[in-house]
Amino acid sequence: MTINVLTLFPEMFESVKASSIWARAIDSQSIEIKTVNIRDYTTDKHNRADDSPFGGGAGMLLKPEPVSACFDDVISSCPQPHLNVYMSPCGKTLSHDMSVDLSKYACVNILCGHYEGVDQRAIDKHIDMQISIGDYVLTGGELAAMVVIDAAMRHIGGVLGNDQSAENESFSDALLEHPHYTRPAVLDDKAVPEVLLSGHHTKIEQYNRQMSLQQTAKSRPELLGKTVLTKDDIDYLTSK
Ligand SMILES: C[S@@+](CC[C@H](N)C(=O)[O-])C[C@H]1O[C@@H](n2cnc3c(N)ncnc32)[C@H](O)[C@@H]1O
Repeated sequence: MTINVLTLFPEMFESVKASSIWARAIDSQSIEIKTVNIRDYTTDKHNRADDSPFGGGAGMLLKPEPVSACFDDVISSCPQPHLNVYMSPCGKTLSHDMSVDLSKYACVNILCGHYEGVDQRAIDKHIDMQISIGDYVLTGGELAAMVVIDAAMRHIGGVLGNDQSAENESFSDALLEHPHYTRPAVLDDKAVPEVLLSGHHTKIEQYNRQMSLQQTAKSRPELLGKTVLTKDDIDYLTSK
């Protein structure tokens, strides 16, 4: 998968690209993440990529011509099928299912707005989908794009050390994940639940399922209606 990020601040991506799972996924060529500076597509002598909005109002807008020229260039060489995304608080809220869908494209081109946003004509011309990462406003789309990339790349084969790990996590079956423990088995009088030390896989699986149900019922009860509950699940929940 290739991800092209269209941004005025490509340097924001450098440390994230050089760290942890991102660095490993890039090194192993499971994913290619390229940043493209929109300013390189300006044509005036001052390299202006933004201008004040018609009709007044605070803040500046990214100008349509450099954004459009940047998209034309990126699309001309990107693998197919591709999707053009604009990070925006006005978009659909990012979800687990959306991140899985995004991971299936050969190429995703992500436009990061800044200041007050982007001239609507560039959005109308190029954007297939607008994505928000939540109901709040960030100063720019870069951090939001990193969240989208991170959530999507976890579903690409080879990105996580163990291919199972994305499948068993929160939201993968609509439930939140159960708690985890590592050594020491006892810490400040707090012991790890005994069943986890028993080596009894069926009992451990059942315990983890119950903890997952408990966690979901406590923090996000509406998710329980989005998954298929077994009779054992329902018995456990009604016993609580
Ligand atoms: C200050 S915001 C612009 C907000 C815009 N004027 C509005 O009220 O909807 C600048 C840029 O940050 C990005 N951004 C801000 N909040 C976001 C969010 N919740 N999700 C995704 N992108 C966001 C977008 O790319 C946006 O163009």
